[in-house]
Amino acid sequence: MGKVGIFVGSSSGVTMGAAEALKKHFKGADLINMEEDYDGLEQFEEYDVLLIGSSTWGQGDPQRDWVDPLYEMKNDEPDYSGKKVAFFGAGDQKSHGEEFVSALGDFHDLFKKLGAEVGFGYRSVEGYDFKHSEAVREGKFCGLPIDDVNQEELTEERVSTWAAQVKREMGL
Ligand SMILES: Cc1cc2nc3c(=O)[nH]c(=O)nc-3n(C[C@H](O)[C@H](O)[C@H](O)COP(=O)(O)O)c2cc1C
Repeated sequence: MGKVGIFVGSSSGVTMGAAEALKKHFKGADLINMEEDYDGLEQFEEYDVLLIGSSTWGQGDPQRDWVDPLYEMKNDEPDYSGKKVAFFGAGDQKSHGEEFVSALGDFHDLFKKLGAEVGFGYRSVEGYDFKHSEAVREGKFCGLPIDDVNQEELTEERVSTWAAQVKREMGL
């Protein structure tokens, strides 16, 4: 399997918890905490597979530690062709059901625009109860939503199912 980097921004630890679980499923993967370990776009170059984690804040915005890197990506337009990328992140479908995990949609579209191969780890909207999400593509989430505010008991199983799906779809 190619080198796997799990890049994660998480304010209260929910998305980080999922990232730590994913690290166990993807043997040899590096976990990069965007708050502490990130020091430039060149870090993405080291990896063939990227698992991008971000919770959603504000009105469907990415977690704060992603703001500068996303700005740099949009500005510098690095070429991510050849990389396989999948997305995961926490949200709150009840209190923020009008923008549930919407940040995942932004990440998906940006990495796709930069040439990365996306389309891995799409999940059914079934089992979630929300009004709207910018992360839905052709009726499916374009990544893994987790919701520890309302469905904490489902998170562990969701993460392990998703890890197996992504590995299978990426041929890892
Ligand atoms: C001020 C505020 C705004 C939020 N906005 C959204 C939102 O737009 N969409 C969503 O799905 N969740 C939203 N949430 C919920 C968080 O994403 C949720 O608490 C999540 O578990 C945080 O994950 P983290 O610990 O990985 O950062 C918001 C929470 C707060 C407090």
